[in-house]
Amino acid sequence: MENLEDKIIQADSLDILEKVRVELFGKKGLLAAEFVKLKDIPGPEKKAFAEGLNKNKVALQKIFDNRYEVLKSEEIEKMLKEEAIDVSLYDALTKKGSLHPVTETMDKIIDYFVALNFAVESGPMVEDDFHNFEALNLPRYHPARDMQDTFYFNDGGLLRTHTSPVQIRTMLECKPPIRMIAPGSVFRRDYDLTHTPMFHQVEGLVVDEKGKISFANLKSILIDFLHTMFGEVDVRFRPSFFPFTEPSAEVDISCIFCEGKGCRVCSHTGWLEVLGCGIVDSNVFEAVGYEDVGGYAFGLGVERFAMLIHQIPDLRSLFEGDIRLLEQFR
Ligand code: DAH
Repeated sequence: MENLEDKIIQADSLDILEKVRVELFGKKGLLAAEFVKLKDIPGPEKKAFAEGLNKNKVALQKIFDNRYEVLKSEEIEKMLKEEAIDVSLYDALTKKGSLHPVTETMDKIIDYFVALNFAVESGPMVEDDFHNFEALNLPRYHPARDMQDTFYFNDGGLLRTHTSPVQIRTMLECKPPIRMIAPGSVFRRDYDLTHTPMFHQVEGLVVDEKGKISFANLKSILIDFLHTMFGEVDVRFRPSFFPFTEPSAEVDISCIFCEGKGCRVCSHTGWLEVLGCGIVDSNVFEAVGYEDVGGYAFGLGVERFAMLIHQIPDLRSLFEGDIRLLEQFR
C-alpha cells in the first residue's frame, strides 16, 4: 500500500500520473488483481479482507485526486508563463501604413491656404440646380453646362459637379469679407485615363469691399501656391472662360517632366494646365445679394496635382484599392 502511494506521489507529470492511474485503478490494474484474490479467501475472513481493500482503494483515490490537482495547476501555470505575449514588444516587421496620395496632396493644399488665414468650408455632395449652376451664372440652357456631365436624381437633385456651389452657400450664410477654400469630392459622368466619376477639388474664394481685390492679388497668391506644390516651375496665366468669373484664366506650369522642352505628358507644349481662376462675375454676387464687393475665385483638381507630383499614369488606379499602389507611397 505504501509502495502504491509512493508511485502516485512521485509522478511528476500528468502523463506519468495517467500511466500510474492505469497501473493501479485500471481493469487489469493492481487493485483489480487484489479483488480477484477475494474468491480464494475463506468465508470468515472474506468480509474483513474486502473492507480493507475498499478502504485502501478510497484512500489511494484521494491521494491520486490531490496529486492530479497539483500537477494540473502546475501545468496551467507553466502554460501561462510560456505562452504569454508581451504586447508592448516592438516588432520591427510590422508595416507602417501610409496616406493615400490624394489625401496627402489634399492635406498639403489645405495646409498652404490655412496658413494664409483661409477658412475651410464644406457643403453637401447632393446639390440642387440653384447652387451648382444657376447662382454661378450658369442658367438653364447655358451651353457651358455641357462642360460638365452631371449625375441627376429623379427629383431634380444632382451630385455636385464642382466645389464651386460651396462659394454660393458660404456667401449666402456669411457677410463679406470672405476668405475661404472648399475641399471635397465632386462627381461627373467621365471615365478614362485622366478622369474618374468621383474626384476631388479645392475651390477658393476671396471677397472684400469693391476695389480692394485685384487680379494681381490672385496672381501672386496662385504663383506662390504653385511653387509650394511643384517647386521652381514657370507659371503662366492664359485667358479663358468660366461663367462664374470675368475675366477668367487657366493657369499652366512649365512641364515638370521635360522642364518645358516638350514631351508626351505635356503634349509637346512644354506646359501643364493645373487650375482655373478669375475675378468673380458680378452676376454671382447679384445671385447671393452682395453689393459693392469684389473678389477672386479659383478651382483645382486634387487628383491632377497628385498625378503630376507622383507621376501616376492612370488616374483610375488611385481608386482601385490595390494595396500595391499605396505601398509605393510609404
Ligand atoms: N468650377 C470649375 C470646374 O469645376 C473650376 C473653377 C474654375 C473654379 C475657375 C473657380 C474658378 O472658382 O474661378 O471646372
